[in-house]
Amino acid sequence: MSSSTSSMCSTTFTISTDILTQLANVLPTGTFLVFQLLVPLATNNGNCHTTEKVVAYKSVTRLGCTKQMMLVNGQFPGPTIHAKEGDTLLISVTNLAEHPLTIHWHGVKQIRTCWADGVPYITQCPLQKFQSYTHRFRVQNQTGTLWYHAHTSWLRASIHGALIVQPHQNYPFPQPNTEVPIILGEWWNEDVEEVIARALARGGSYNLPNALTINGQPGFLYNSSAADAYRLQLQSGHTYLLRLVNACMNFALFFAVAKHRLTVVKFDSAYVVPFTVNVILIQPGQTLDALLTASHQRGRFYMAASVFSMPNSSIIPFPTIPATALLEYPASGGSSPIMPRLPSHNDSSYRDYFEAQQFTLNNSNQLLLVPRTVDRHLFYTVGYGLASNHSCPPLPTCDGINGNRLRGSVNNITFNLPTTARKSLLEYGYLSCRGVLVSGADFNLSFPDQPDTPFDYTGPPPPRSAWYPEHGTRLSAIRFNSSVQLILQDTSILEFETHPFHLHGYSVYIVGKGYGNYDPATSPASFNLINPPLRNTYGVPSGGWLALRFVADNPGVWLLHCHLEIHTSWGMETAFFVREGNGQDQSLPSPPRDYPRC
Ligand code: C2O
Ligand code: CU
Repeated sequence: MSSSTSSMCSTTFTISTDILTQLANVLPTGTFLVFQLLVPLATNNGNCHTTEKVVAYKSVTRLGCTKQMMLVNGQFPGPTIHAKEGDTLLISVTNLAEHPLTIHWHGVKQIRTCWADGVPYITQCPLQKFQSYTHRFRVQNQTGTLWYHAHTSWLRASIHGALIVQPHQNYPFPQPNTEVPIILGEWWNEDVEEVIARALARGGSYNLPNALTINGQPGFLYNSSAADAYRLQLQSGHTYLLRLVNACMNFALFFAVAKHRLTVVKFDSAYVVPFTVNVILIQPGQTLDALLTASHQRGRFYMAASVFSMPNSSIIPFPTIPATALLEYPASGGSSPIMPRLPSHNDSSYRDYFEAQQFTLNNSNQLLLVPRTVDRHLFYTVGYGLASNHSCPPLPTCDGINGNRLRGSVNNITFNLPTTARKSLLEYGYLSCRGVLVSGADFNLSFPDQPDTPFDYTGPPPPRSAWYPEHGTRLSAIRFNSSVQLILQDTSILEFETHPFHLHGYSVYIVGKGYGNYDPATSPASFNLINPPLRNTYGVPSGGWLALRFVADNPGVWLLHCHLEIHTSWGMETAFFVREGNGQDQSLPSPPRDYPRC
């Protein structure tokens, strides 16, 4: 709508309420957002770069339906943020909408900048209308594709984009001719906030999106979508680096390009030992960089994304039409495009085949430090649950199973987001470290290291009591610098599921994976402690377990949750309180001046 650039050397930036009010008067009513990217602020030589300042508001049309959407810079997906390794980013977010808002920088390690993590009530109180906050953090020890998204309610559906960090060193693979962000997402004809509000009111499932999208477009297999589909012109012999982001709210995706193989070189911003496949599997929240060589002379080829979901579609439905985009060689005008072959929605053997090839690169570009010993053993069950009858007034019963409300839990505890708290959990944690007395009601560190009532997690249906998780806002305290092993165990309660878990503030080593119940006596024998996958988001196998290791060297309150947004809405989350160390640079600085209060 309006944009201006200027050189700015200041380290804080806020927009005067004046300007906001003016904008609010000029622009049509509806939801919009100001998003200012002050990137990058060079840290080494103090050079100042241009300040982008962009106002966003838009009504958007897909599938022939037009609706108002809350967007960054008027774009769906949002603009790509470019940074260089080591840069400090100052990103000012201003909320011009009625809806409370936070923005999270998914996968950014946020070393000692937990204040900037953007999780409502966990690391900050959400921005109310006309409120601004400048997220200040440094991108260090990680390069490649990361992303940002709203972390309030389901706003992530429209507020998301890529965050690309260029390394100082050359890539440890052939330099591509072109780099292309490919953002995978969803489109609802309806206002997405209404979709989730209704689902929560009724206690059952939610209305499916009307389309899957590639770079915001459903593509050629959906009505009224072909003309606007994303297209990429290929030059024969050139190499393309596809920077994939799975921004879907609720679906893991298969992704393939017809007649072109893809060489995966990075996963969740970590270099991998390159491997070449026909089809990629990407969990919601994950990012992946893959090389594609334009090996044909002419022709038109679809890239396509389809859903990976283990449960039967009658139990957990999903969109069945793949999103498509077009890759075209020059002078291929009339030829009809070729569609890639995608695995069937529940092809877990493809998942296992794909994951068996994933090893993290260990060389001068990236040194691996896989913890060999464990100070703290955590075993968390993750799965569905129910809340008992009559909890959906004014309806006589809920829409979940047998009139119950659907829930999610970790160690049989449904997490209650502390939406009425006076401070964020991070602020309570910080104050407690500074000797302020904080009550256990505000900051409860009693999350159990394993389920209180163990059962056969993947065997015959467990006792009824296990189906009804308790509720609470309980965190787990972790000693600074301890080496943590976390087992995530799926349960059979209601349905097995591939839960894509995400821990904020850390990339973790996925040292093991298996089906059935994790067995502390035998399972560790299969662990890879040499070059395991390094990820910020990881799909727990349906009916199985995943073993993660990390060193808790970043103090703060870090959310751990399923990145299927409906599961987060149902409370499948908890958080770690990583304590401070005694050394220099082992504690949290005080909160920024413009830190949003409740
Ligand atoms: Cu990508 Cu807690 O989120
Ligand atoms: Cu889940």
